[in-house]
Amino acid sequence: MKRMVFALIAVAAVAGVVAYTSPAYGEENEAAPAFVDKIPPGYRDWKLISVAHEEGNLHSFAAVLGNDVAITAYREGTRPFPDGATIAALHYSHAPSDENNKAFGRAQSFVPGTPTNIQFMVKDSKKYAATGGWGFAHFKEGKPGDEALLKTCFPCHNQAKASDLVFTRYAP
Ligand code: HEC
Repeated sequence: MKRMVFALIAVAAVAGVVAYTSPAYGEENEAAPAFVDKIPPGYRDWKLISVAHEEGNLHSFAAVLGNDVAITAYREGTRPFPDGATIAALHYSHAPSDENNKAFGRAQSFVPGTPTNIQFMVKDSKKYAATGGWGFAHFKEGKPGDEALLKTCFPCHNQAKASDLVFTRYAP
């Protein structure tokens, strides 16, 4: 009997560790942060918010797009963003264009090369309360990023608290 109780405690302890270290992706969970595990449909047809270019290790282009809820909030200056607002950052490598350079007669043209990843922020103030009301998502070749990566999103984006965790300004 003692052995049995010990075994049960051991099982419970392991189950506890598993429950703690793997928060339910996309499910409501007050304590642990929840992340988005599905690519929001139709994102490629969303409207342009702005573009960004990173140097350093990233060396990338980004096109930042918003769904209708996000675009309306941007245009009307609504902060915090309402639930349902979703922002996509489409990242591409930074590639020189020989074709364009030929037309210009000198090396000056850079265009989006291969896609590197797609990131999303999905506003749901209840579901993602642990991360400022935003659910974060990262997809590389269609596959979601791992938890260790997704845990880095909120602490950095939290620096943009004054603009509801969103860095990108609307480009007219
Ligand atoms: C070290 C800081 C940092 C980390 C970590 C980070 N971001 Fe960002 N993110 C930024 C900055 C700065 C921008 C503004 C655009 C740019 O310069 O690329 C941005 C832009 C974005 C945007 C467009 C909306 C906005 O806030 O401008 C999305 C969506 C996004 N990031 C998602 C994510 C996701 C998902 C993760 C985690 C996998 C993540 N980010 C991790 C700093 C960060």
